Amino acid sequence: MTTMDQNKIHTQYLIVDPKQPEPEKIAAAGAVIRQGGLVGFPTETVYGLGANAWDKEAVARIFQAKGRPGDNPLIVHVADPATVRELAADLPPLGEELISRFWPGPLTLILPRQARVPDEVTAGLDTVAVRMPDHLVALALIKAAGVPIAAPSANLSGRPSPTEAGHVLADMNGRVEVILDGGQTGVGVESTVLDLTASVPSILRPGGVTAEALAEIIGRVAVDPNAEGMDAAEISATPRSPGMKYAHYAPQAPVILVEGEESRVVDYILAMKRHYQQSGQKVAILACRETADVYLDNQPPAWLEVLGKRDDLSTVASRLYQALRACDTAKADVILAEGFSDREIGAAVMNRLRRAAGDIVRV
Ligand code: TXA
Ligand code: MG
Repeated sequence: MTTMDQNKIHTQYLIVDPKQPEPEKIAAAGAVIRQGGLVGFPTETVYGLGANAWDKEAVARIFQAKGRPGDNPLIVHVADPATVRELAADLPPLGEELISRFWPGPLTLILPRQARVPDEVTAGLDTVAVRMPDHLVALALIKAAGVPIAAPSANLSGRPSPTEAGHVLADMNGRVEVILDGGQTGVGVESTVLDLTASVPSILRPGGVTAEALAEIIGRVAVDPNAEGMDAAEISATPRSPGMKYAHYAPQAPVILVEGEESRVVDYILAMKRHYQQSGQKVAILACRETADVYLDNQPPAWLEVLGKRDDLSTVASRLYQALRACDTAKADVILAEGFSDREIGAAVMNRLRRAAGDIVRV
């Protein structure tokens, strides 16, 4: 099926109750998955774009719908830990421990694959990524489908991930059969991807389960150097997690990320704001609650997003992607973003901001 054909799909938009998903809506969406269709659905992190993980043609359609490079593998979503055995050839004791502590939740485990997992899912790797989402709609959908669901984030490739169904509709209307609208997602950034096939468990992507929380169980946890949030050009040609090498999470306008001591960050952003405004450009600013008002001077920016209090990193994470999309809606020419702390879920926030940024300034 060509992209042209996919554009002709009628997308059914169903509002579901995130606390008590209506069984008939979930059954309809589950049947679409079973029959090889695509369904956008909420998880606790971001919206996913799901297909039957056993059906390689359905999985191939995900890549077409997103414009995703074929060498970037997908996460398989399960509704119960027992299903991991159908997908993974081995589950080490540490994996079982992590599952009992963090599932359902935003932790994806990389495990050796079973041969029957299609190459389309794993991009031909000898490993498979698995997670059990902590969202009643996602869990009900997987159960109704009766198959594990392969799902990347439900954005067009390279764009910010969707944290509400409207974002999915904006990117996927006409490309998928069903979008389940279960409201806003909670965590707001994607799951942590943890490689359990390396000699030391290694974080390939920081996410909803923090390195600090993992270290309590694992003791030693490595962070893959490619996961540290360098911009795309700095990432090695063959990273462990193929997704690392692509530009990501980016709004249309270029993002300039300013990191450093707070007063210097504010001064630098104010100076850049004036510079761009003088040349007639629309400036958007992403700031913390504490500094935001400073930017509302006699020449306020075209758009100001307050992500949250500087230390309330969970709130910052939950607002990040909608903030990046809002800058596009405001038709900003340039986005100036304050840096946040790298600790706890701040690691995921900064990873995404650094990946989205064309320029990182350290002041
Ligand atoms: O929170 C999430 O993880 C969301 C929701 C929908 O579950 N999903 C998500 O999927 O973020 P996606 O496709 O946008 O990101 C999956 C990441 C990519 O960086 C990919 O390269 C990596 O997981 N990955 C998948 N399978 C892998 C494997 N076998 N080995 C290493 N990395 C893998
Ligand atoms: Mg993604």
